[in-house]
Amino acid sequence: MTAADTPLELRLSDPHVQDDPFDYYAQRLGNCPVWHEEDVDLYVVGGMAEARDALNDSATFSSAPARRSAGVNPVAMAYVTALAERGWGRAVTLQRTDPPAHTRYRKVLNRVFTPGRVKQLTPGIEAIANELVDAFIHTGRCEFVADLALPLPGMFIAEQLGLDRSQYRMFRRWAEAMLCLANRPDMTMEEAMAELEVELEAQHYLAAECEKRRAEPSDDLISLIVHADSDGEFTMNELQDLLHQLVTGGFETTTGGLATAMMLLATHPDQQLLLREQPQLLGNFVEESLRFDSPVQGLWRKATCPVQVADVDIPKGASVMVRFGAANRDPLVFDDPARFDITRDNAHSHIAFGLGAHFCLGAALARQEMTTAFRILLERTDHIELDGDLPSPLHEPSIFLRPMKALPLRFLASR
Ligand code: HEM
Repeated sequence: MTAADTPLELRLSDPHVQDDPFDYYAQRLGNCPVWHEEDVDLYVVGGMAEARDALNDSATFSSAPARRSAGVNPVAMAYVTALAERGWGRAVTLQRTDPPAHTRYRKVLNRVFTPGRVKQLTPGIEAIANELVDAFIHTGRCEFVADLALPLPGMFIAEQLGLDRSQYRMFRRWAEAMLCLANRPDMTMEEAMAELEVELEAQHYLAAECEKRRAEPSDDLISLIVHADSDGEFTMNELQDLLHQLVTGGFETTTGGLATAMMLLATHPDQQLLLREQPQLLGNFVEESLRFDSPVQGLWRKATCPVQVADVDIPKGASVMVRFGAANRDPLVFDDPARFDITRDNAHSHIAFGLGAHFCLGAALARQEMTTAFRILLERTDHIELDGDLPSPLHEPSIFLRPMKALPLRFLASR
């Protein structure tokens, strides 16, 4: 038995740990930066140095799907088979590929949310944020997840894709279904088949939108990916997988980032006051909240060969999870990592957006959405606090995301 196998009481598969993983991280990191979760047979890379090395080494830590997926779980197998028969089977693109295959997809999408383009798009983000705040500001209360954290990124990415932004709730439901196999490995067959119907509806809707643009190009994101590939057109299976990543990436992650940052502000009145007094700290507040409680806590890799990391032997073919959320609490990098401090001078050293070839395509956009939303919220209110108790548990169960159930707030509107 190695140090990393030493039984420790907290487990990543436990929904309570997923809801609040930070004691678990402290306990594990205190023992070893890499560990093996026996019950789910997953090697977790949690130290910052080890996580950075793994993310920069796609030859050893491949993004190609590992054996955890459909092959071993009959419910997942039934789902992917039916999806392929009645819709489009999952092609493996972008986030699930390694260079050089990855480069072909990335080249097309790299142009989409560059910092320069995000700057041009900022007035559109401001307009949506103000419109959403207008709807609740006079009441002195809001449920932040439903009233802002969900619709802001949802409406924005829908508009960019060229879809009807008023349908964002339907797109969010699609995103949930698209992620169900990863988020809910214990689904019953009945639950999985219900989710399948939602994903099929999404696929058929998106296929029709792609075909429309194939016939007549427009200036939106769907048209760009339908027409962009210089090495020949993407197949419909590839287009479906790319859109899957844009829809899920565009919604779930930024919603989580906005909701968590607001929860931190509402529960740390001293930090809120400081931010109101020194608005130039806004950018650092966004980075510190992404570090402190990262919207994507971890993502999978597959070991392509036997490899030793921090004295832990990882066998060839093993499922590995790079745990961004744990690395961002590594005491070797962040002094007193459990302290939420918007003046922290190395807050930006987090890896909440990943690193290397797969560094988040939407990072500049997500940062702008968060900065714009909080600038407007801070300008239009004088004080924000929780309105009653938070749901317990606060998050929907997920091994890799932080979907907050609700965040009731009350505030004073500024005059
Ligand atoms: C706070 C918000 C966000 C967070 C925390 C986040 C986090 C991440 C992380 C950790 C990765 C790395 C994946 C890996 O290494 O396997 C990633 C990749 C990606 N993200 Fe984001 N993301 C956010 C917002 C967005 C937005 C707004 C979009 C789309 C508009 C987006 C689209 C993507 C895509 C397509 C990839 C895959 C890139 C590739 O494989 O080359 N993300 N994101």
